[in-house]
Amino acid sequence: MLEIGVDNGGGLEIWKKYFPANTVIHGIDINEDCAKLKFPENIHFHLGDATNADFIREHFEDEQFDIILDDGSHHPKDVIAAFLNLFPLLKNGGIYLVEDCELSYQKNCLNGGFLKKGSTIEFFKSLVDSLNYDYIDAADLTREQKKTLKEYNKMIRKILFYPNICAIEKYAREKEEPFQTLMTGLIDYANPLSRKRPEDLRALIEINKEMFS
Ligand SMILES: C[S@@+](CC[C@H](N)C(=O)[O-])C[C@H]1O[C@@H](n2cnc3c(N)ncnc32)[C@H](O)[C@@H]1O
Repeated sequence: MLEIGVDNGGGLEIWKKYFPANTVIHGIDINEDCAKLKFPENIHFHLGDATNADFIREHFEDEQFDIILDDGSHHPKDVIAAFLNLFPLLKNGGIYLVEDCELSYQKNCLNGGFLKKGSTIEFFKSLVDSLNYDYIDAADLTREQKKTLKEYNKMIRKILFYPNICAIEKYAREKEEPFQTLMTGLIDYANPLSRKRPEDLRALIEINKEMFS
């Protein structure tokens, strides 16, 4: 697990208690004072900026995480930059969580406001379109939108919005092509599209099982 934002280390301590004893937990913070904290075995502190791609590469090049939790500055530009840096380091089947998304709605705080362009919550809402990328008319997308939505379409299985928290889950393996639609019934064919051979259907079901396990 990786947590962005360590502060007094309270979060890291809770995760240490909550998860199995052999769980390896990493924490990142830009505050030098955090480096003075003493942590038990299997908790590793990294002094640096989660939005800095070079820092992330240097410290975590060979790491892959089951869980990444952003409890850092909560400033949308930091949350988005950290997500772009770290989502690729999430394991297949892993989950990326962002705390305190309610700040996106608060006018007096971090440039938030209802439907405020550039806010954390609007960024994660926009990723919902990546789930349905295969059905969007390419002519309606800018080159940049197409690139981003296509990239996340391969990786994002699910986006969950809880009060205050947004959670983005990765597929168990990268999606390689658009899903096929299955229409089938046991009694008779009303639709010629559903005339798939049973062995093809079985193969498709197996592929889908692997993606979603
Ligand atoms: C809300 S506190 C973290 C609380 C901690 N997760 C807990 O549960 O006890 C936010 C922390 O994020 C750190 N922070 C802010 N921006 C950061 C960044 N870009 N990269 C890493 N840490 C950052 C701050 O220094 C601060 O200690």
